[in-house]
Amino acid sequence: MWSTLKSLAADTEGRKIIDLFENPGRAAEFSATFDHFLFDFSKTNIDDTALAALLDLAENAGVAQKREAMFAGRKINETEGRAVLHTALRNLDGAPVNVDGVDVMPEVLDTLARMESFATEVRDGTFTGQGGAITDVVNIGIGGSDLGPVMAYRALSPYADGPRVHYVSNVDGADIADTLRGLDATTTLVIVASKTFTTIETMTNARTARAWMSDKVSDPAAQFAALSSATDKTGDFGIASERVFGFEDWVGGRYSVWGPIGLSLMIGIGAEAFRAFLRGGQSMDRHFQTAEFAENLPVLLALVGIWHNQVLGHATRAVLPYDNRLVRLPAYLQQLEMESNGKSVAMDGTTLDYHSGPVVWGEPGTNGQHAFYQLIHQGTRVVPCEFLVAAEGHEPDLAHHHQLLIANCLAQSEALMRGRSLDEAREKVKDAFEGEELERQARHRVFPGNRPSTTLIYPKLTPEVLGQIVALYEHRVFVEGVILGINSYDQWGVELGKELATALGPIVAGEESAEGKDGSTRQLVDYLRRHRA
Ligand code: F6P
Repeated sequence: MWSTLKSLAADTEGRKIIDLFENPGRAAEFSATFDHFLFDFSKTNIDDTALAALLDLAENAGVAQKREAMFAGRKINETEGRAVLHTALRNLDGAPVNVDGVDVMPEVLDTLARMESFATEVRDGTFTGQGGAITDVVNIGIGGSDLGPVMAYRALSPYADGPRVHYVSNVDGADIADTLRGLDATTTLVIVASKTFTTIETMTNARTARAWMSDKVSDPAAQFAALSSATDKTGDFGIASERVFGFEDWVGGRYSVWGPIGLSLMIGIGAEAFRAFLRGGQSMDRHFQTAEFAENLPVLLALVGIWHNQVLGHATRAVLPYDNRLVRLPAYLQQLEMESNGKSVAMDGTTLDYHSGPVVWGEPGTNGQHAFYQLIHQGTRVVPCEFLVAAEGHEPDLAHHHQLLIANCLAQSEALMRGRSLDEAREKVKDAFEGEELERQARHRVFPGNRPSTTLIYPKLTPEVLGQIVALYEHRVFVEGVILGINSYDQWGVELGKELATALGPIVAGEESAEGKDGSTRQLVDYLRRHRA
C-alpha cells in the first residue's frame, strides 16, 4: 500500500494543483459535508487515484474494526491495558458501554449530574466562598488537564456568563503569581485538575494556592474542588469528597475535556451550554461511526494528513484558525496529535519504517499572515496548511470585520495554490526597474505556489460546533494512529524528562553534587551556583 502511495506521490511531481481544477467537479468531489460543516481538500495534489489508494489504506489498516473496538470499550490502549472511552463522556443518551462486563454509563451520567449541580450552585451563588458568591475560578492543571478547558473557555467566551475562569499550568511561579494577583481569595474557587494527582507542576501550584488562600480564609479546603482519577489522593490533599469529581483510567488526559476536567468550562458557560458542547461531540461520533470513509470527515482529515506527512514527506502541519477565539486550538492540537502519534515503535514493538505524526503548530489568522506566512509562501519547505473559518461571527455590528477575515482566509489558500510566476512578477515591477535589476527584483517576488491546504468551514463557533470540531480532531488522530499501527493512547515519551527533573531537583537546590552529570549539565549547574553566590 505504502509503495503504491509513494509511486502516486512521484506522479505529482510537476503536476499543478490548480490544473486539477480543469475538472469542473473537483471542488465538490474533493470535499465532504457533515451537518453544517464543509471540509474542502480540493486544494491538495490528491487526485482520484491517490484518494482511492488512501481509502484502501484505511480499509486495509482495519480502521473500521478498531473504531468498533474503541467504541465498544475494548482495551485498545494495549501498552497500558486500558480501554479508550472518552466517547462515553458525551454519550448523552446513556446507551450501555461495557468495560470488563460492567456498564460505565450510570457512573458517567451520575458524575455529569453532580458536576451540573455543583456548577449551577457556584454560578447562582448557592455555593459561596467565605466572602460571598464566587467571582473567580482558578483551574490548576497541565497538559490535558489544562489545554482542553482553556482552549474551549477562550473559544466560547460569548457564552461565558458565570464567574471569571483563570487557568494556571506552568510550574514557573510567574504563572500562579500573575493569576492570583488581584483576585480576592474569599470569593475564589480553586479547582485542582489532575488525572493522576501526582503531577509535580500541578501539585506545586495547588499547594501555593492553598497557602495563598489560608492567609485570608479560615477554611481554605472548603474553597477547593478536585478533578481526578486518583480519588484517594484528593482526600489526602484535604478536599472533601462532595467536591471531588472522579473519572476512570479509560479517559486519557488529552481526551478528558468532556468529563470532570471540563468543570471550569461548565462553571464559565453553564450546564446547558456544556451539554451542547457534549452533544456536538456525540454527533461527530455518530458521523464517524456511520459515514462511508469517502464521506467521513475524520477519516478524510486523517488521510490528507497521511498523504502530506508520510507520503510526501512534509514534516509539519500548520493549523490556522481564522477565528480568533480558537487562539488556543493549535496548542490543544499539539498535545492531542503529538502526544498521541509522536511514536517510533508500532503497537507490536517493532520500529516504524515511516515517519510518525507531524509537528503541529499554528496561530490564528490574520495575525499569522504578518508573522510566519512569509515562510509558508516562499520558504524552501512545503507546509501543508489547515484553515478553519466560521461563516458568521458573534459580533453582528462588526460584520465588515468578519467579511475581511473570511476574504483573507480564502485569499491565503488561493495564493498558496496559485503562486506568482516570474512573468507575473516582472509585470509587477516593470515600471520601477529595468535590465538586470528588474530580473533580480522580480525573482524576489515569485511565489512558487502549488502549496497544499484544506479548509474547514462551519456556520458559527457555538458550543455544539466546538464539540464537533474537537471530536473531529480526536477521531482524526485515532485514524492516523491506526494506519500507522501505533498506540495513540500512551505517552511514554514524557517519562524520562520527569525522572531526570526529579533527580536534578536536589542538585539545583545545592543539596547534592552534580558529579556524574555530563559536562554541559555541570556547567549550567555551576552557573546557577555562581549566580546565587
Ligand atoms: O506529562 C504528560 C501528561 O501525563 C499528559 O498526558 C497529561 O495530560 C498531563 O501530563 C497531566 O497529567 P495529570 O492530569 O495526571 O496531572
